[in-house]
Amino acid sequence: MASKLGVSACRFYSRAAVPPRFRQQLTRQPAAVSGRRESHGLYNEMDHRPRVLITGSLGQLGGGLARILRDRFGRDNVIMSDIIQAPKEVLQAGPYLYADVLDQRSLKEICVNYEIDWLVHFGALLSAVGEANVPLAMEVNIEGLHNVLEVSRRFNLKLFVPSTIGAFGPDSPRNPTPDLTIQRPRTIYGVSKVHGELMGEYYHHKFGMDFRCLRYPGVISTDQPGGGTTDYALKIFHDALTTKVHHCYLAPDTRLPMMYIDDLLSATADFLEAPEDQLKMRTYNIGAVDFTPEELAQEIRKFVPDFEIIYNPDHRQAIADSWPQKFDFSNASNDWGYRPLYDMRGMCEVMMEALMQVYKPKHKVAELKE
Ligand SMILES: NC(=O)c1ccc[n+]([C@@H]2O[C@H](COP(=O)([O-])OP(=O)(O)OC[C@H]3O[C@@H](n4cnc5c(N)ncnc54)[C@H](O)[C@@H]3O)[C@@H](O)[C@H]2O)c1
Repeated sequence: MASKLGVSACRFYSRAAVPPRFRQQLTRQPAAVSGRRESHGLYNEMDHRPRVLITGSLGQLGGGLARILRDRFGRDNVIMSDIIQAPKEVLQAGPYLYADVLDQRSLKEICVNYEIDWLVHFGALLSAVGEANVPLAMEVNIEGLHNVLEVSRRFNLKLFVPSTIGAFGPDSPRNPTPDLTIQRPRTIYGVSKVHGELMGEYYHHKFGMDFRCLRYPGVISTDQPGGGTTDYALKIFHDALTTKVHHCYLAPDTRLPMMYIDDLLSATADFLEAPEDQLKMRTYNIGAVDFTPEELAQEIRKFVPDFEIIYNPDHRQAIADSWPQKFDFSNASNDWGYRPLYDMRGMCEVMMEALMQVYKPKHKVAELKE
C-alpha cells in the first residue's frame, strides 16, 4: 500500500498509482514549465485555493501542518512527500508522494504535473543528527535547499523554508535574541540554516521570489523527536508517565526557547497566508516560552509528584550553550499579528493530557482534569 501512492507515484507517473483526482489532470496539457503561469489550473481557477507540496513531511512537523493546510485549502490541494514509506493513516488522509529533495528533476516533475503553487520545504537533517553525519547534512540541507530554490524560481512558487534558533551562535546576543544580529553558528545544521535564510532572501531580491522563513525554537509535541538538541523536552513527558525518571543530556540551568506544536503550526499556516505587503522582512523569529530542564521538571512534578530527573550532560550541551536562551519575536507580532496561545503551564497540561491517554487508564485522565 505504501508504494501505491508513495514510491512509484511521482517518479514514473504510472496513472494507476496517481490518486483519481490527479489522473484527470495528467490528460490535460501541462501548465507552462517556466515563468509565471497564466492559469493556476482547473481546480484553482474555480476556488483560488493554492496547491501545496510539503517535502520531508513525515517528520515531527509535516503531518500536523498538512492537516491544518488541508482544512484551509482542501484535502487534495496539500501533497505530502518524503523519502520513506508512509504509514496507512497518512495514505488515507490525502495525497502522498515519494520526493527526494536531492533529485531536482523529480521535484520539477511533481511541481508541473501537480500544478504546485506553494512549496513548504521540511526535508532536512536536524542538529544532533547533522553533527553526526556532516557530509550528509551538507547534501540534504544545502544541496536540497538549492534544488527547492531553483524549482521554486523556475515555476514561480511561494517557498517556505523553516530556520531555527540554531542559526545563531555564541557571538549572538542570547537573551533576548533579535531578528537581525550576528549569526555565527558552530553546527553544520546552523550553518546550513543561515545559508538557507540568505539564499532565500537573495532569490527574493534578485528574482522577486515570495520566499518566507520562520526561525522555529524547540518544538514540543507528543511525536517522536527527530534528533535535535531540544529533544529532551519531548522525551521528558514520556518518561514522566512511564519510568518516572528522565536522564537529561543537558545541565539543569540550560535555558532554551520552545513552543508547543499547535502554536507553531498555526503560526506557519498564518504566515504562509499573510499578505505580502505586511511582511517587512522575509525571515522572522517566532517563539512562545523559554525554560530550563529543572523548571520543566518542576512543572511536571505538579502532575507526577515523584518524578525524578538525573543530569548527564553530553556533547549536546555545547550546542545548547551556543544557542539563544530567549527569542525576541516582536517583529512577527507587529508585522503579521503572530500571538502564541500556550504558556508553559498550558503546554504541560496539554502534553500530559494527551500522553495520559496513551500511557494511563481512562479514570486517571479524569483525575488529572479535576
Ligand atoms: N522539530 C524542531 O524542533 C525544529 C526546530 C527548528 C526548525 N525545524 C525545522 O523544521 C523542518 C522540519 O523539522 P522536523 O522536526 O519535522 O524534522 P524531522 O527530522 O522530524 O523530519 C525531517 C524529514 O525529512 C526527511 N528527509 C531526509 N532526507 C530527505 C531527502 N533527501 N528528501 C526528502 N526528505 C528527506 C526525513 O525522512 C524526515 O521525515 C526542518 O527543516 C527543521 O530544520 C524543526
